[in-house]
Amino acid sequence: MRVRALAGVVLLTTLTLTGNPATASPARPAPPAPTGLRALADRADLRIGTAVDMAALADDDAYRAAVAREFNTVTAENVMKWEATEPQQGVHDWAAADRLVDFARANRQKVRGHTLVWHNQNPAWVTEEAFTPAQLRAVLRRHIIDEVTHFRGKIWHWDVVNEIFNDDGTWRDSIWLRNLGPGYVADAFRWAHQADPKVKLFLNDYNNEGVNAKSDAYYELVKQLKAQGVPVHGYGVQGHLAVQYGVPADTLTNLRRFEKLGLQTAFTEVDVRMPLPADPIKIQAQAQGFTALLQACLLADRCVSYTLWGFTDRYSWVPGVFDGEGSATPYDENLSPKPAYAALRDTLALAGR
Ligand code: G3I
Repeated sequence: MRVRALAGVVLLTTLTLTGNPATASPARPAPPAPTGLRALADRADLRIGTAVDMAALADDDAYRAAVAREFNTVTAENVMKWEATEPQQGVHDWAAADRLVDFARANRQKVRGHTLVWHNQNPAWVTEEAFTPAQLRAVLRRHIIDEVTHFRGKIWHWDVVNEIFNDDGTWRDSIWLRNLGPGYVADAFRWAHQADPKVKLFLNDYNNEGVNAKSDAYYELVKQLKAQGVPVHGYGVQGHLAVQYGVPADTLTNLRRFEKLGLQTAFTEVDVRMPLPADPIKIQAQAQGFTALLQACLLADRCVSYTLWGFTDRYSWVPGVFDGEGSATPYDENLSPKPAYAALRDTLALAGR
């Protein structure tokens, strides 16, 4: 938005210096004002994204059209995870992930890579734990180098490590922590950087919006990583909210403290679920949840993107995981926009002025 505003000032100045109102050609009708999220985000100099379900992208024309129309960034909901890319050791399947990268290129969208190291959705051959710690470290290194190399130059951000802390700020138990100790995080960032020195490398988690034990753990970790010269560039806040829990009031304060450490910030998986059935108050609270995070991003200095974890209830992961909850996205099952969509649109429109 600042860049756009400045560009506007320069243009005006040029016109003032060189334009001659008496001889200027008649004014053309102004182009129609942008209305979709993508056009408004472009004008506000913000990346707005969605997680993409590759089956839906292939089969559902309305879904595919909306991904292209409404977003300037995409994230693979599942197909860049390790279980998808290397189902058997040494046998890679990049096909689905490549299709997303091709779609993004055709539609001039950036790609957030999700995710290199996680406790979940690893291939069975990894989690059977038949490896010694030294072998497991070599296997993890190979995976990171292979995947980042495969997509070198095509990915904007990588979520390098995902969900490494518990909510109380202790390290989450995982095959990586058990076998390699916490040093696996620094290793993962170094290996990713080695494979693609230009890509921005992110930490990513949920329940880390505000200042709390989990975000404190990240804050201390980032200080340590920076002191060791580890290439870490971004703090990803997933933003899985629920109307019954509200939005942490210190979200902006939290983003700012990470930005002061030299990181970019991003909302990476925003949705706002609710206990079903929906009612007008829940629907209003949902719209406020989406816009509260968007406002924090727009008010922060280095918040570079805002990604929805799916934009339609037709394919949302929420009902499958939270019993009795759902309606978590800005479009309903029929791909009709809800008040949350209008709220996001109105906020972006204000930001681009
Ligand atoms: O791939 C299998 C397929 O072979 C099988 O036929 C089918 C039958 O259920 O399951 C498929 O696996 C599913 C997978 O998504 C791929 O579609 C799993 O059951 C399902 O549990 C899995 O869920 C994903 C979940 O991560 C796994 O933890 C969700 O789609 C995805 O939205 C979700 O995303 C995570 C982020 O990566 C990290 N942050 C939290 C977020 C929400 O949980």
